[in-house]
Amino acid sequence: GVNTAYCPLPISRLRDRLTAPLWKLLQKASQEAEKRGWHLYLVGGAVRDLLLAENQKQVLLEDIDLVVDGFHKSADVGAGVELAKALQKIYPGVRLEVHGQFQTAALLWHKDPDLGSLWVDIATARTEFYPYPAANPEVEASSIRQDLYRRDFTINALAMRLTKPRAGELLDFFGGLLDLQSRQIRVLHANSFIEDPTRIYRAVRFAVRLNFEIEPQTESYIRYAIASGIYEQIQGRNGRAPALETRLKSELKYILQAPYWKPALQLLAHLEALRCIHPTLELDEKLWWEVRLFDRCLQKFDPQKTLEHWQMRLEVLIAYLAPEFRSKVANNLQLPVDSIERLENLDKAENNIIESLPKLQLKSEIVQFLRQYNLQTLILIAVRNSRIIRQKIWRYLTEWSHIKAHLNGNDLKALGYKPGKQFKEILDALLTATLDGKIDSRESAEAFVAEHFPLEN
Ligand code: CTP
Repeated sequence: GVNTAYCPLPISRLRDRLTAPLWKLLQKASQEAEKRGWHLYLVGGAVRDLLLAENQKQVLLEDIDLVVDGFHKSADVGAGVELAKALQKIYPGVRLEVHGQFQTAALLWHKDPDLGSLWVDIATARTEFYPYPAANPEVEASSIRQDLYRRDFTINALAMRLTKPRAGELLDFFGGLLDLQSRQIRVLHANSFIEDPTRIYRAVRFAVRLNFEIEPQTESYIRYAIASGIYEQIQGRNGRAPALETRLKSELKYILQAPYWKPALQLLAHLEALRCIHPTLELDEKLWWEVRLFDRCLQKFDPQKTLEHWQMRLEVLIAYLAPEFRSKVANNLQLPVDSIERLENLDKAENNIIESLPKLQLKSEIVQFLRQYNLQTLILIAVRNSRIIRQKIWRYLTEWSHIKAHLNGNDLKALGYKPGKQFKEILDALLTATLDGKIDSRESAEAFVAEHFPLEN
């Protein structure tokens, strides 16, 4: 019944967990909504995180969802936008974005001295317009209830009323509070994953991040959705709108860049959800070993994280597919061009390396040969191949690629050589001799140059 859906919470509990400026902002927003006879609710992840937070602890919220509801004039369907505009008058520095014709508005603070970086989405409760006045709680709640019903999990479908009367009241239509307490990820209805397959990835993300369990019935819905071929939708058919791929990509990014990416990947594999990337993709022992080794390599060779590590992890997964599938998957997921090209050319590069590298013994030959490939390609190939290949690539990356000739162009000039075509030839010869151990000092380098490239007077 409706009554069980309302759970009075002391509003002080909300106030204590927010920073003072944010609390003030929510109060201003509530006042503006009250003036117009609307209800205002805090919904989604913010409510979840506030309820999960331990007593007395403040929660850092950078992303807040508000829903306006309870109006009874059809002209008020733009309520969310109107409320956002009213707040912009109070906070002149804020940026306002309006999405869709009436639907939502966003207020964005960037490094504000009080509010920090904050993103506030204000939506109008998404429902058909109700022609009758919102007199009793049942009717009042009906559109916020519908709005919440469209959401992914019970723990994300809680709303906290901000407006009076009954400010602070928690609206819990689907048992979210209980699921928060028993740490369960539960969908609201059986079709949730069929309607939105990216929710499979979200279920995994929340389960691992919050240390929750995917409730067994929900898990069976996931398995059902996957068994029924939901992933085929994702693997772009011609002419289909790319919205789903874009969202799958952003969920993948979210997961693969998180500190908990390893358990998340394992859980995705356990649910057979990697099939959303490609039906043949499975996290077997070898691939699991490859991604972890790859990660250690990245940490070593790119400690400053100048490369996109999440994307590189995804590339290892895609590289595990048969060569003919790689570029299609990379394209579907709209990876950047360099990444698509790398995956497209991987097979050729790999074959070339497997064919040539074991035969090369001189360091100079190995350096000459591997120089044509960039770091990402080399690490990808190293983790996928035999020890012999891996060790040569490893030593190239850690040592040999850093070795320099003992003389540079300026030194050659000082020795009396004229800049020109011969310079490169001399420098190459110097490097080769250095790599192969024939030169070990500046003196021996000068002697080498004098012997092999005598100056004509
Ligand atoms: N949502 C959904 N289905 C999706 C994506 C989002 O139902 N595929 C809903 C969820 O109810 C979620 C809200 O939209 O709470 C906002 O989405 P998002 O910001 O991605 O989630 P948060 O819960 O805020 O997660 P986070 O704390 O990671 O930002």
